[in-house]
Amino acid sequence: DEGVVRRDRFSGGPARSFLSSLEADERIFAADLEVDRAHVVMLAEQGIIDDDVAGDILTALDAIEVDSHGSLPDGEDVHEAIETAVIERIGADGGKMHTARSRNDEVAACIRYRLREDVLAAIETTVALRESLLDVAADHAETVMPGYTHLQPAQPTTVAHWALSYEGAVRRDTARLLEAYDRIDESPLGAAAFAGTTFDIDRERTAELLGFDGIVENSMDAASSRDFLLETTQALSTHATTLSGLAEDVVIFANRGFVSLADDYSSTSSIMPQKKNPDTLELVRAVAGDAAGNVQGLTTTLKGLPRAYNRDLQRATTHAWKTVDAVTEASEVAAGAVATVDWNEESLAAEADAGFSTATGVADLLAANGLPFRTAHEVVALAAERGSDIDAVEAAAQDVLEEPLKSFVDPADVEAALDPTESVGSRDSRGGPAPGAVTANLETARQVREND
Ligand code: ARG
Repeated sequence: DEGVVRRDRFSGGPARSFLSSLEADERIFAADLEVDRAHVVMLAEQGIIDDDVAGDILTALDAIEVDSHGSLPDGEDVHEAIETAVIERIGADGGKMHTARSRNDEVAACIRYRLREDVLAAIETTVALRESLLDVAADHAETVMPGYTHLQPAQPTTVAHWALSYEGAVRRDTARLLEAYDRIDESPLGAAAFAGTTFDIDRERTAELLGFDGIVENSMDAASSRDFLLETTQALSTHATTLSGLAEDVVIFANRGFVSLADDYSSTSSIMPQKKNPDTLELVRAVAGDAAGNVQGLTTTLKGLPRAYNRDLQRATTHAWKTVDAVTEASEVAAGAVATVDWNEESLAAEADAGFSTATGVADLLAANGLPFRTAHEVVALAAERGSDIDAVEAAAQDVLEEPLKSFVDPADVEAALDPTESVGSRDSRGGPAPGAVTANLETARQVREND
C-alpha cells in the first residue's frame, strides 16, 4: 500500500476520479474512525507509539467526526482523507497512525465492521416478517382456501398452512444470514498489506476493541479474501428469492379477490380512478432480480483474482451494500404488507373447492376403503369429467367397478370428503393443513423464533 506515502507522485491526473472510492466510502466513514481508534489504542498499549501522540490522534479523530462528516479533505479514499485530516490538525505525528498497517487490512476491517451492523438489521427484518406470518397463521388456522400446483386448483388448504410454508422458508433465510454473520465477524486488522509487520502488534486486542469475535489468522487471507461478502450477498439473494414468491402469491390473491392490501401498501392509477394496485409487492418481487444480479456481479469480480490485494476489490464491496439495502427494505415492506393484508374469508371459501379440488381426498377415501389407489384415481378422474358432486362419483364407480359406490363406502363419508373444510380437517399428517397439525407447527415455529 503505497498510495498514502507517495501521495505527491500519484496525486491526480485524468484517472483520479476513476481511482477514487471517496463517495462510496461515505458508508464506512464511521467504521474507519472506529478502526483508526482501535489501532491507535493498540499501538500505544504495545509501546509502538507514545501515549501523548496517541492521545493527540484520538482527539483529532473525535474532532474530525464532529466537524468534517461529509466534508472530508480530498483523498483517493476515506482512509487517506482521514489520515490527511489528522495530519492537518496535529502535524506530521498524525502520520504515526498508519504504523503497522495498510489500507488493505484497514478497508477489510471497515467493511466487516459496517456489514455486521447492516446484516443484523437485515436479520431483524426477516424475524419481523416471520412474526407477521405467524400472526396470520394464528388468526387463520381454520380459514380454508384453495391450494394450487401449476397455478391450477389442486387441493384445499388453509391460510395458516400457506403462511407457515413461508415462515419455514424465511426461518432458513435467517439461519443463513446468521451463519454469514459469524464469518463476517472476524478481524483482518494487523494483516498490513498482506505480509504482516515487523512491529509487535496485538491483533487480538484490536479485534476485541472492535467487538470482533476473533481474527482472520493468515495475513494474506485476511487482506485479500472477500468470500464473506459473497456469502452474505448470496444469503440475501436467497432471502429475496423467498420474498419474491411470497409477493407473487399475494399479487395473485389480490387478483382473485382473496385479499385486499392495506392502503399503505397499495398504489393507485393516475388515470383509472377505481384502481388499487399491489405495487409494493411487485417491487418486492423485483428486488430478487437486483439481488441475483449483484451476486453475479460480485462473483464475476472476485473470480480469478490473484493473491493478495487487487484494486478490483474496491468495486466488489458496492455489490454487497446495494444488496443489503434493497433486500432489507423489501423484507421490511413484505412484513408490513403481510401484517396488514385483509383476508376475504368468503371468497376464499367460495373458491376452495373450485376445479374439483377435493378429488384427491375422495380418491384417498376410496383407497382407505380397500380400492387400490390407482383404481380409486381412475374412478375419480372419470367422475371429474362429469362433475364434482356425489352423483358424478357414484356414476363413475358404477362404470369402472360395475358395482354401486355404497357397496364399499359410506356415501356420507364421500359427502364429507367433497367438503373443502372436512377435506382440510382430514389431512392431519405431520406438517399438513389440518388445524391441529398447523397449530403444532405454529408452536414450534414460535419457539424457534424466540431463540433467533
Ligand atoms: N479504497 C480501497 C478499497 O476499497 C482501499 C485499499 C487501497 N489499497 C491499495 N493498495 N490501493 O479497496
